Amino acid sequence: MNIDVILGLQWGDEGKGKIVDYLADKYDIVARFQGGPNAGHTLVFDGKKYVLHTIPSGVFRPHLINLIGNGVVIDPITFEKELKGLDAADVKYLDRLYISQKAHLILPTHRLLDAANEKAKGKSKIGSTLRGIGPTYMDRTGRNGLRVGDINKIDFKERYERLKQKHLSILSSLPQVDFDLEEEETKWFASMESLRKIPQVNSEYYVNRCLKYGKRILAEGAQGSMLDVDFGTYPFVTSSNTVTAGVCVGLGVSPDKIGEVIGITKAYCTRVGSGPFPSELFDETGERLRKEGHEFGATTGRPRRCGWIDLPQLKYTIMLNGVTQLVLTKIDVLNIFKELKVGVKYIIDGKETEEVPYEIPENIKLVYEEHKGWVQSLAEAVSFEDLPLEAKNYVAALEEQLGVPITMVSTGPDRKELLLRKAH
Ligand code: IMP
Repeated sequence: MNIDVILGLQWGDEGKGKIVDYLADKYDIVARFQGGPNAGHTLVFDGKKYVLHTIPSGVFRPHLINLIGNGVVIDPITFEKELKGLDAADVKYLDRLYISQKAHLILPTHRLLDAANEKAKGKSKIGSTLRGIGPTYMDRTGRNGLRVGDINKIDFKERYERLKQKHLSILSSLPQVDFDLEEEETKWFASMESLRKIPQVNSEYYVNRCLKYGKRILAEGAQGSMLDVDFGTYPFVTSSNTVTAGVCVGLGVSPDKIGEVIGITKAYCTRVGSGPFPSELFDETGERLRKEGHEFGATTGRPRRCGWIDLPQLKYTIMLNGVTQLVLTKIDVLNIFKELKVGVKYIIDGKETEEVPYEIPENIKLVYEEHKGWVQSLAEAVSFEDLPLEAKNYVAALEEQLGVPITMVSTGPDRKELLLRKAH
């Protein structure tokens, strides 16, 4: 059996949570392979909204096993809050949520370091979610980190103390930030109890064994490919590999085990935090997209930057990920526009190109193709064929240019608002 992958092809927030939730019925296991509580996966069903940060989006489907892989970083405090949210929603997870022993722990001082680093950067700050992601991955690479499996060791507290002291000495050369370390440490150690309740697994063996016995696994990406630490808009990126290759190291599966790669893109484009964004709109259209699309961060509440869909950018991430099918989300947000634009080429210093350059310059321009809008609600559509002609044309034009089939079109936040174009 192969492992299928679902991931975002832009700068995150493409609507992965909803699609994972829909696809979940076709799988036995949903596994997260990278990122941490910087992610915010929003799901809406039965009139209620749920936001997940660390826990895979399959948790709301009672038959599914949910695995947090070794490539994920975990903040026990956020994790406990998520578990409490599930308790409140009466979601039973205890016998179907597993965590890799090799996943790294986010300490309170990692969050403190994140904030102090950003402050030190001043105007060139990344716009981090300040969840301690970068410093935790740095400790992983620097071979200083604490892992979930370490919480069982008798000298765990001493290990914690050693790492904390290391952080404090780095912090002494960084600007001061408002942070009650003592209070956060108390919360951190108290939340350990919830973490201990979740079965720890040797996840690489677990995943490979499941594949061998025919279990269907979906690897759920967080953030988006343009935030990948190697291929994204560096340094304005997150600290993990968000592309398909990240599944291999974040779960311990070999590349030949990768099956379908489902790439998600919004019908337009957004970004939160700093960094280049070629199709960003600074005018009223951008404002309308933000308002209509409720484009405010699920984790931080920050307003998202908005722009038209950017095809060179999507072709780049389709290439990097080996995308086999596309899902187009939030197409209903475009209902209000008479004219739609699609970025088809970049112009850099007067030269046209379809490649994402090493560094995206500030003066980058996009050549746009115009499409007619449909200017009507899509709420009544129950099949793709029910969509207005202009919407069908828009989808067909994207599909043709991207060269990958668009198999699903999402017309609203609810579970039910999803049009299939071919059987899955
Ligand atoms: P960090 O991962 O919190 O360090 O943030 C690094 C960059 O990635 C910032 O620009 C964040 O806004 C962005 N980012 C991190 N997680 C997400 C996400 O889940 N959605 C969208 N942007 C994200």
